[in-house]
Amino acid sequence: MPDLDHKRYVIGLTGGIACYKIAELVRRMLEQGAVIDVVMTEAATHFITPTTMQALSGRPVYLDTWDARIPNSMAHINLTRGADAILIAPASTDFIAKLAHGLADDLLSTLCVAKGSCPLLVVPAMNREMWQHPATQRNIAQLKADGASVLGPASGDQACGEIGDGRMLEPQEILAELIAFEQPKVLAGKRVVVTAGPTCEPIDPVRAITNRSSGKTGYAIAQALREAGADVTLISGPTALAAPYGVARIDVESARDMHGAVMQQAFTADIFISVAAVADWHVSNASENKLKKSADGQAPTLQFALNPDILAEVAALQNGPWCVGFAAETENLNEHAEAKRRRKGIPLLVGNLAQQAMNADDTTFVLFDDTGAHTLPLLPKLQAARQLVQAIAKRLPDRKA
Ligand code: C5P
Repeated sequence: MPDLDHKRYVIGLTGGIACYKIAELVRRMLEQGAVIDVVMTEAATHFITPTTMQALSGRPVYLDTWDARIPNSMAHINLTRGADAILIAPASTDFIAKLAHGLADDLLSTLCVAKGSCPLLVVPAMNREMWQHPATQRNIAQLKADGASVLGPASGDQACGEIGDGRMLEPQEILAELIAFEQPKVLAGKRVVVTAGPTCEPIDPVRAITNRSSGKTGYAIAQALREAGADVTLISGPTALAAPYGVARIDVESARDMHGAVMQQAFTADIFISVAAVADWHVSNASENKLKKSADGQAPTLQFALNPDILAEVAALQNGPWCVGFAAETENLNEHAEAKRRRKGIPLLVGNLAQQAMNADDTTFVLFDDTGAHTLPLLPKLQAARQLVQAIAKRLPDRKA
């Protein structure tokens, strides 16, 4: 099921060059199942045409309080009733000022005052001086105090040639924020460290031993945690995946690198989720130079040494984070997973069948805790991750142990 299925939004465009990016945003939102009514201020029509927005949204575009197409002449009321949110993007300096003061002199501003309980999301886009102006900052603070969510702005190159704060978030980022907005904030304010992906153990500078973990499960969990309001650090072995929006990623290669990165972060974490497929051994006689084929046809002999068990070490920390482990097994899942949970001394372990889960897009999580085994349905990894996040929030003690 797409993430915005059956959701209805009003997108309000105001005057700013970033209007062109809203064409793309509308496309991406429709792909996620959203229904969109576009409302434009007069200034917005100088940057993108209502025809473009109508063709993309597949619905009439509203510009005017006195729109004769509305039988009861009440577009300013009708459009937000039953809507899941109003998204003002781009939100200009002027429009933000109007919102902060409750002005209602065109359709979009009137609709925002008449919105009742419909949530308001504001995506600022302006020159850095306009953003930093004390009046704008006052207005933004007022909007937040009034319950609006302010998304961004980002920092970087601006259309005017200056560099600084005030850039509108990119369409994919706005979409990620919107999808996150729909998720319950069950881990608001919690700091979570997640490991993901394979580790990679060098044999020599050009060869390594790794495993088939794609990182998809760990990355989906990092995204779901961020959507639930957590502050997420993802410590990742080598994968081809992009870091989920709003998640800080630390890249590592070997299990010993991962161990170092985790131990630095774990003390300040509320929760540690160990999803990575960490190699149990590293090559203890790894060569500094590339190993050459020997003239006598002998293959080199590799020697192995144990890697640190990162999860067990974090679980044993005094006043450490609440720990969740993973187990990918090829057989006897329940037996192996529960034994592993006890051995590592952790309150929750998630088991799945390696042959089904590895590199797949869907997964069945089985949760093992003190009360037994609980099987979640087969789901796309992001949806399974969201269910896991709910399950973690339910089990998390009020205060760190
Ligand atoms: O020890 P085993 O690999 O069977 O257990 C799997 C769980 O332990 C996973 O959560 C994995 O991330 C974690 N692990 C670890 N350090 C290791 C090996 C596994 O943290 N060296």
